[in-house]
Amino acid sequence: MAEIIFFGGKGGVGKTSCSSAFSLEKSKCKKVLLISTDPAHSTSDLFNMKIGSEITKIKDNLFGLEIDPEKESNAYIEGIKNNMHRIISPIIMDEMNQQLDAARISPGAHESALFDKMVEIILNEYENYDFIIFDTAPTGHTIRLLSLPEMLEGWINTLLKKRRKTLALKAMVDRIKGIDKEDDPVVQILKQRQKKLNQARALMMDEKNLSFYFVLNAERLPIEETKKAVKLLKQYKIPVKGLVINRLLPEHPEESFWIEKKKQEVYYLDEIHTSFQLEKMYKIPLFETDMHENSIQKMSNYFNETPEY
Ligand SMILES: Nc1ncnc2c1ncn2[C@@H]1O[C@H](COP(=O)(O)OP(=O)(O)O)[C@@H](O)[C@H]1O
Ligand SMILES: [Mg+2]
Repeated sequence: MAEIIFFGGKGGVGKTSCSSAFSLEKSKCKKVLLISTDPAHSTSDLFNMKIGSEITKIKDNLFGLEIDPEKESNAYIEGIKNNMHRIISPIIMDEMNQQLDAARISPGAHESALFDKMVEIILNEYENYDFIIFDTAPTGHTIRLLSLPEMLEGWINTLLKKRRKTLALKAMVDRIKGIDKEDDPVVQILKQRQKKLNQARALMMDEKNLSFYFVLNAERLPIEETKKAVKLLKQYKIPVKGLVINRLLPEHPEESFWIEKKKQEVYYLDEIHTSFQLEKMYKIPLFETDMHENSIQKMSNYFNETPEY
């Protein structure tokens, strides 16, 4: 069964680089699926190959997948519409379409489709990999995503209620007595979703299965944002296992500008050490070049549990 790890953090701190490097390191002896949920999809650029919406082999033991939230939510709603089309009368279909289109633009629609897709992948693939690693979009977005089971529960309940009401009205009009609302295909689909959601929640609540790593830089804003995020995740009982402090300056810089910068960094590193007591702490230097196939190899060494440097 796979260990599921989310890499979160502020935009630009190095989530894509670090989750990719981490995956690369783990793939030396384990089978890894790296999933990007950020629409910017930089894993493709990083590995210099097209990683698409199907699981794609990056190298031995390392597989990639890019999920596009907007595409997923459209496909999801179209899928429901098509299903419905075959079993529902045109008049009701019109009304259903309206309800579904409203759902498409309602708050959380993209996230809920993305969440659905993530749960589907986790449920389908967790037997096939040792690690499933998520490179996520910036923090706020991801945490909203993980708090979704609760939000979605409400959303599905509302849709279920609406649907049952529609069915009751229809039954009255048709003078049909004793119609079984639970046999209705829309109710069925919604109930199926509810079941999936409960599975997801059970999975997410178990810290043996799921953990969170925050990537940050030794600077004030990322530290503040990470503090808030860790607190929030605690509320949702999602365990934060570790930090990746990225882009650390060389130990002994020579120019006065960098000496000053380094002083600040040391100060913030100290703050990080006192503010977060987490199981794992990875420290990654700032590299001369930005991240590409070769430098990502170099970065991956820093995720080695028994480092040789
Ligand atoms: N340790 C590092 N040294 C040098 N460049 C880095 C390092 N980490 C990230 N970068 C560069 O910083 C930019 C942002 O990194 P990225 O991983 O895309 O961040 P995020 O996914 O959090 O937005 C990229 O251009 C990447 O190449
Ligand atoms: Mg990214």
